[in-house]
Amino acid sequence: MFERCVIRGTELAPARFCAPLAGYTHSAFRRLVAELGGCGAFWTEMLAARQILKEDFDQSPWLRRCPKEGLVVFQLMTRAGDPLDRILGRLDEQGVKAVDINLACDAWTVRQQQAGSALFENDTAMRQVVSDARRLWPGILTAKIRLGTQRPGWEQRFEQRVRFLAEIGLDALVLHPRFFEDKFKRRARHELLSWAASMTGLPLIANGDLIEASQVEAWAQHLKPACAIMIGRMAVVRPWLFATWNRSLPEPVDPARIWRRLLDYILEDFPPPVALRRIQMFSKYFSANFKFGHGFHTELANAASLGELRERAERFFATSPSLVQVPSVSGL
Ligand SMILES: Cc1cc2nc3c(=O)[nH]c(=O)nc-3n(C[C@H](O)[C@H](O)[C@H](O)COP(=O)(O)O)c2cc1C
Repeated sequence: MFERCVIRGTELAPARFCAPLAGYTHSAFRRLVAELGGCGAFWTEMLAARQILKEDFDQSPWLRRCPKEGLVVFQLMTRAGDPLDRILGRLDEQGVKAVDINLACDAWTVRQQQAGSALFENDTAMRQVVSDARRLWPGILTAKIRLGTQRPGWEQRFEQRVRFLAEIGLDALVLHPRFFEDKFKRRARHELLSWAASMTGLPLIANGDLIEASQVEAWAQHLKPACAIMIGRMAVVRPWLFATWNRSLPEPVDPARIWRRLLDYILEDFPPPVALRRIQMFSKYFSANFKFGHGFHTELANAASLGELRERAERFFATSPSLVQVPSVSGL
């Protein structure tokens, strides 16, 4: 399932994509996943749209790309009034092929800027931003949405927006079927995909709580209306997930080697204090692979320097820690 899909004439295989995760799906992480075998497409973590005008695309830890990554979709945190002509012009100059508009993030800092979920809720502003983006961007254009806010009439508001996004000529829609206020509580309601698909011919990309091949097969009935799936947290826990998708567990992976590799890549991209924080954040997710992973996470989270962090990680790996069969991402 989800072996390939075509979006705006571009064939993407497999149709299994890496989700945007702020603080995690930076270029170092994408290089690691690409080196392990890659995925159908990567979404960058959300990028403050105006910042794009100031960044150095060869140096920025968020914007740097390597050819092995394949299609990288640049996700914009944007709002009405942003100079999209210049922002999208810059992306085009830099050879970017695909752009996504974040209409889903409910973080306070994002809402405060009238972006993410606040933009989704403001119909006028959303229409302006998306239609400007479509007019200015000839490449692949997608948006990432949730269900909206669970107030009476949410179904109509959702439908109105989805129909607009299709009419304006978006190329695909990423649907994480939770309400904004759910954050990560309750489950993703993939059973609503067929309802969403009934409103539009837009290719849908299903996202939320997807963790492995057998589960995706088991949910095939609900996921069938989607052309592709997108995986977030479990891809951070298991950067080899896409590469080993169709093979049975246990997977032939050496977690210590993968952790060290990511540390090397993070150190290539980020200055040391930021690198320390980034590997600590990653290690929280990565620790879900281990039977006694909590200790690994707290030991590393309390490391005061990169040297200490490395020493603590190596001490842990030297114990040949047992892996769990299927890690849990709940609470992460
Ligand atoms: C730490 C973290 C950061 C995230 N950052 C973003 C982001 O920058 N842009 C976005 O659209 N979604 C973001 N998300 C949401 C994910 O892309 C995804 O929709 C969500 O995690 C559900 O998918 P999953 O169950 O496969 O993780 C983030 C989620 C987490 C946990």
